[in-house]
Amino acid sequence: MLNSLNIEQDMAQPSNSKQLEQLEQSGKVIQVKPSTPNLPFTSRRGTFSIATDLRPQVEQHKYAIATAENFHLSNTGKIALEQLQKCWDSLEYDPFYGEKHPSCQRRRRYTEFDFNPKAGTLKPRQRVPYIQSKEMNSYAGGKVRHFGALQTDTYENPLFQDLVEYNFSLFPLEELWLDRSWICQVHIMRIVVGAGQTTAITPEGIHSDGYPFAGLHLLDRVDVVGGETTIYQLDETPLAKITFTQPLDSLWLEDRHLKHSVTDIACSHEKGSEKESRKESEKEEAGYRDLLAISFSLPDSIYSKKI
Ligand SMILES: [Fe+2]
Repeated sequence: MLNSLNIEQDMAQPSNSKQLEQLEQSGKVIQVKPSTPNLPFTSRRGTFSIATDLRPQVEQHKYAIATAENFHLSNTGKIALEQLQKCWDSLEYDPFYGEKHPSCQRRRRYTEFDFNPKAGTLKPRQRVPYIQSKEMNSYAGGKVRHFGALQTDTYENPLFQDLVEYNFSLFPLEELWLDRSWICQVHIMRIVVGAGQTTAITPEGIHSDGYPFAGLHLLDRVDVVGGETTIYQLDETPLAKITFTQPLDSLWLEDRHLKHSVTDIACSHEKGSEKESRKESEKEEAGYRDLLAISFSLPDSIYSKKI
């Protein structure tokens, strides 16, 4: 796979033309339509470029993985990343993922946007609660969950906007769908784990969130161990394992056609971190993992979200 990220893939990848020929003869190769050239991708707002075309991977396997090293951030992009990371310091407590120990908790914000693919623009929609069925989410499904909205400094951040546009560009779609206004659902989350504690990332277990296409990006990870993501086929056969360690380590998936789970995280310190740079209040919290999840759907179409 791409590089040093902790990735294991169970799906055999042909390494040379002879292997490919053998696989073709055995009928194991899935022929995919050639993608439109997307290489190198340079973001509209100039925050990053990416030299690897991930679309063939998404088209063939329904997911793709990239590490922070694949994103070549400009100076503007580096500043935007620092500013974006700060937005995770002002998330709101999520009462639906309560843990027994008060030092472990989930904080989040959620907003739906109208996304115009041709113009690359985002416009916040009227606020709505987040609702999943019990079937889709055995832990928190069946509840009407109201979350605080993303703040303007988050969704006006140029790196955030470039990530939205880049993620959509990886979604295997025919041209006719690009003229539509899509819904872009954005979850931003921090999971805090107290000193000496372990906490669940996905207490619902192996699951799908029902999105036609979703991109997940690590924004930060401080004093945390664990958090290994596994991607599965729908029959729960594992396909790949990834542990996000660096800001912008990323995963994209056609979520309705796959499943995923993440292992628990633990604080890497018995006591709170003594890092000078941390705020007094955070020393008690000890560890956290910040995630940005950007998803796309189109209601009343073949790309509607499964609820
Ligand atoms: Fe999920």
